[in-house]
Amino acid sequence: MVSEKEIKDCFSKELTWIKDETLKEKVVAIWKAAADERGWNSIHDVPFTLLIEESGRLTDHTKRMTHMVYAVMKQREEDLNQDYLIAGSLLHDVGKLVEYDVINKKIVKGEYGKKFRHPLAGAKLAWQHDLPDEIAHIIYAHSHEGDKTKRSAEAVIVNHCDFIDFEIKKSMVEE
Ligand SMILES: [Fe+2]
Repeated sequence: MVSEKEIKDCFSKELTWIKDETLKEKVVAIWKAAADERGWNSIHDVPFTLLIEESGRLTDHTKRMTHMVYAVMKQREEDLNQDYLIAGSLLHDVGKLVEYDVINKKIVKGEYGKKFRHPLAGAKLAWQHDLPDEIAHIIYAHSHEGDKTKRSAEAVIVNHCDFIDFEIKKSMVEE
């Protein structure tokens, strides 16, 4: 079972960028709830993506992403909501913990994941923990699901930083 300590240690730097203590705790609680739902032994066992072979760990992607999001935010003059942005970034892929399943020691898209991709699964977890719609929107809209919506400024940043990291990884394995 994943401990809260493991999650807090993993995101120790990034969590300091969330000012609201309750929100910080909820981000950790959501990672734990998602991990417990599928019985992950460690959050570091979850792969970044099944679309790229040896894509690395989801935790590393989440950290890289959140640092990029923070850097972009620091360069903007608009009144962006830092708490929403960082919480949304740390949680954007948490739905992968329930989208994926371990079958015969292999990590695959599970039955639940075939019905509900991680953006929706993640938004559901956010609502279940009473996070504001603005954060659920960032999670839901971070991938193609959001193409049919009008993304908030915070969601635009998360969407683009996510794809920067994904596309760079992909470019490394393509011929
Ligand atoms: Fe992502």
